[in-house]
Amino acid sequence: MPETAPARRAIPRERTQGCPFDPPAALRELQDKDPVCPVVMADGSSGWLLTRHEDVRAVLGDYQRFTSRGELRNSALDGQVTAARPAKPGEINSVDPPEHTRLRRKLSGMFTTSRMTQLTERITAIVDDVLDAMDRFAPPVDLVQEFAQPIPSLVICELMGVEYAERDVFQEKTTNMLALSATPEQYLAALDDIYAYVTDLVERKRAHPTDDILSNLAAEEELTTEEVSRMGLALLAAGHETTAHMLALGTFALLRSPDQLAALRADPALITGAVEELLRYLTIAQYGAERAATGDVEIRSRLIRKGDVVVPALMAANRDPHRFDEPDVLDITRRTAGHMAFGFGIHQCLGQQLARVELRIAYRALFDRFPTLRLAVPPDKVPLRTDSVTYGLAALPVAWG
Ligand code: HEM
Repeated sequence: MPETAPARRAIPRERTQGCPFDPPAALRELQDKDPVCPVVMADGSSGWLLTRHEDVRAVLGDYQRFTSRGELRNSALDGQVTAARPAKPGEINSVDPPEHTRLRRKLSGMFTTSRMTQLTERITAIVDDVLDAMDRFAPPVDLVQEFAQPIPSLVICELMGVEYAERDVFQEKTTNMLALSATPEQYLAALDDIYAYVTDLVERKRAHPTDDILSNLAAEEELTTEEVSRMGLALLAAGHETTAHMLALGTFALLRSPDQLAALRADPALITGAVEELLRYLTIAQYGAERAATGDVEIRSRLIRKGDVVVPALMAANRDPHRFDEPDVLDITRRTAGHMAFGFGIHQCLGQQLARVELRIAYRALFDRFPTLRLAVPPDKVPLRTDSVTYGLAALPVAWG
């Protein structure tokens, strides 16, 4: 019998059902109706959308059958300037072992427990400074701009050893790179600009090392300046926007769930579980973990052909009722083990401990400092950012007092 290609659909993007924290309703429907669903990728090629926790985990856990190689991995979203292209030296998320293992070893050595402890103190100081500055404004203020954006930016400055005098310049370059309204050309120009800055920084660190990740990487004889610079840029790209979006969206979610916020306020020890549950419930990495099949492979009787792109929908997997009871309920005391907000397998987020520390410190300090924090606009007027790899808010107007 001649084989007929299954009908393909576009990847569901619309969050139309009213709750800004829920994944697109169509994704959840697919979990039962068509968990391995044929889709059209942004460039017209064939792809598969996976919405069940079990399948997403299996794909991300099998790098031999599902590669991360940049030139094979097509982006799930239209207009993404990061569509399929070979990895540049040091781009850890777009390579497989053994190159991935080599780069990951160099980087994971930099995220040691002692460095995290050292960073905890610095992050607390950074958060306090940011809140002091916010407190000097007359409300309403935009929490994205005054709180969620600066904290991860300053933490990355700390990691990379950016001098205090240069932090404004660095933050400006980062903001340009992440600008909402940027065209692909503007984005690429901003990326070149910050890449040039980081390369210059790496050269300075080679000449005059200080105690930070970039200096340590630069001291590795095996790594070229380009590799170290791109690794630094990867930390910036992977760690800034994600953490910023979690800070803003998580605050919004807690303000919209007064019972959960009250429970957290009554028992600050709940913060660790609250951060895990917010990570699961919000799963901001909506796309970006795409893989490509290295050979023909079957999942749930669907034949995935060599070269097809597989799109693991982390946000659907983390709301899979086969894995989590009442998955659409935000419950800061639930067991969240097994959530995949940071992905799964060898590419699982390298900065996850850092992100957790940042989120715990920042949420707690925010709600301690502003006990009367509230939305300054009706909830349906809070502008969402649905068009990027990372889901988040364009602004979060808040007031207090
Ligand atoms: C990888 C999410 C914060 C650095 C990933 C992946 C996800 C993720 C889902 C896996 C992508 C894949 O499988 O292809 C997040 C979220 C964050 C966060 C939700 C914040 C809440 C950070 C921070 C850093 C960081 C703070 C570092 C400063 C990285 C790097 C990778 C990665 C370097 C690539 C790892 C590899 O390919 O081996 N992140 N991330 N992330 N993340 Fe994060």
